Amino acid sequence: MNYRVPKTRKEIFETLIKGLQRLEYRGYDSAGVAIDGNNHEVKERHIHLVKKKGKVKALDEELYKQDSMDLKVEFETHFGIAHTRWATHGVPNAVNSHPQRSDKDNEFVVIHNGIITNYKDLRKFLESKGYEFESETDTETIAKLIKYVFDNRETEDITFSTLVERVIQQLEGAFALVFKSIHYPGEAVATRRGSPLLIGVRSKYKLSTEQIPILYRTCNIENVKSICKTRMKRLDSSTCLHAVGDKAVEFFFASDASAIIEHTNRVIFLEDDDIAAVADGKLSIHRVKRSASDDPSRAIQTLQMELQQIMKGNFSAFMQKEIFEQPESVFNTMRGRVNFETNTVLLGGLKDHLKEIRRCRRLIVIGCGTSYHAAVATRQVLEELTELPVMVELASDFLDRNTPVFRDDVCFFISQSGETADTLLALRYCKDRGALTVGITNTVGSSISRETDCGVHINAGPEIGVASTKAYTSQFISLVMFGLMMSEDRISLQNRRQEIIRGLRSLPELIKEVLSLDEKIHDLALELYTQRSLLVMGRGYNYATCLEGALKIKEITYMHSEGILAGELKHGPLALVDKQMPVIMVIMKDPCFAKCQNALQQVTARQGRPIILCSKNDTESPKFAYKTIELPHTVDCLQGILSVIPLQLLSFHLAVLRGYDVDFPRNLAKSVTVE
Ligand code: G6P
Repeated sequence: MNYRVPKTRKEIFETLIKGLQRLEYRGYDSAGVAIDGNNHEVKERHIHLVKKKGKVKALDEELYKQDSMDLKVEFETHFGIAHTRWATHGVPNAVNSHPQRSDKDNEFVVIHNGIITNYKDLRKFLESKGYEFESETDTETIAKLIKYVFDNRETEDITFSTLVERVIQQLEGAFALVFKSIHYPGEAVATRRGSPLLIGVRSKYKLSTEQIPILYRTCNIENVKSICKTRMKRLDSSTCLHAVGDKAVEFFFASDASAIIEHTNRVIFLEDDDIAAVADGKLSIHRVKRSASDDPSRAIQTLQMELQQIMKGNFSAFMQKEIFEQPESVFNTMRGRVNFETNTVLLGGLKDHLKEIRRCRRLIVIGCGTSYHAAVATRQVLEELTELPVMVELASDFLDRNTPVFRDDVCFFISQSGETADTLLALRYCKDRGALTVGITNTVGSSISRETDCGVHINAGPEIGVASTKAYTSQFISLVMFGLMMSEDRISLQNRRQEIIRGLRSLPELIKEVLSLDEKIHDLALELYTQRSLLVMGRGYNYATCLEGALKIKEITYMHSEGILAGELKHGPLALVDKQMPVIMVIMKDPCFAKCQNALQQVTARQGRPIILCSKNDTESPKFAYKTIELPHTVDCLQGILSVIPLQLLSFHLAVLRGYDVDFPRNLAKSVTVE
């Protein structure tokens, strides 16, 4: 937003589009902007919305096609908003993309990052009040809700930020929001809860302050009605940030510094439930609740980072960033689905088909690469919870065999991208034979999510690194959640279900604990990076960990690596074991513990020097280990989520030490859309 900084419409477009392009690395499927239609004619002011499916470039081209847009018209004060979308609710298309609007006149428009979990209830309420919805998004409810609050205001002079404050009191879930309205020309309001949001500040002139004091409501915060009637502390110059002497200033709202860093490196990071408003070139921040940090002000900070660094945060590669995102990504997969109070799981995308699934004869779980490993990892718990035969299949092999499929089969297609050609062909093959098809993807609107009968969106967020990491753990959890949902009414399984649900609850914390082993794993990589080969051995719930760990290693380090089922050791792989060959063994305190000890003995008897991933409370295995990495313990069927992470980290460090491009390994692609 620019205040007293004259800008042409073309310049405004360029700033918005450039900002979006800087965020494209996160993934996108559509984009949109909202800018002022007319200048200075306040009464006739309207908001011009342009939205487009596809890349930001498509939106950019569309903007210049709009005949009604005078690109040279100059605005002294202007507030425009823009957004790239990664679909969570509703397929990618222009209507579902943001900004979402309150009505045909675009009275209020909003952009949103995050997920509103109670949007269905809000939508029902608003529909009962006569509001008509045009998109399938959760975000549209926010646009309609603010209009509802505005239409039902008790005083004419209600401020824009008060409206937003009332709106967010009704929202559950995660959000970063920026609002624009024809009723408040030249004003901006932004807020967040759970999703990041920052404000960049640029001015050639001295700023009034470096610390913006937070304004609090004075009434009892428990009482929502009274909040609505209570006034905020008076706004005066000392509670606002502006350029001294009413001079030119620009504010940039963004979910990520990479979008704005070329304009300014002076930023304010908002905290959950902060409401930031700009009016008359002055920025104020207020809250209803005291902040978690209890800091009574927000400071302007100076970022020292380069653009490239910011996109990857403090990480040197997207893969590393994605590994470290797992405490949040697994939480996002469960959010709004697992109820830890009632021990129930509800997967909205499957609930209408649950009866049919419960009647089926077998489950077939199909995928490629890492997605296939997620199927292997959860096979046993699915068999246990569904009491059905479960086949896990590599899509290519499944097709090569012309595998018999029947009408009473339920076939799952696991795919991060939702576009993998083999998986897609297997889906069509099963559909042709009348089976019910279920997609488990990370990409709403992808071919697999469109062509399946029903499905689960894993909500892991965009994954850029070719070697899949956070998608694996989220696929794993999605399949476990499916098993839990299937077994809800099995009395004999209740204790087991509760144990698993308790395990799910503590996963994000335990993942953080595993990630804290990073330095130790780096040291291990220093010892191993010149090796030619690396074996990864385990069994039971952790066989998939070995397959996935070995895949990570070969994909990005180009070392030979094999995931070996410890039960098969004597049938061949033991011949590879000697003093030189590094062997990683995954030995967890689970029903296979004793058998893994046997394998360990066989390895040490051949002078092998095993590096053991074991449970923290295991006193036995470390006695025979060359090195140990001790992991926190969780319920057996979830342990694979914790045990794969050290191997993800190890492969990352090995690849860096060997000097390879971690995110873009040679000969491989993120999405393999050819057979
Ligand atoms: C490629 C990627 C792998 C991925 C596999 C399946 O091989 O490099 O990381 O596991 O495809 O992809 P999907 O998108 O179907 O999960």
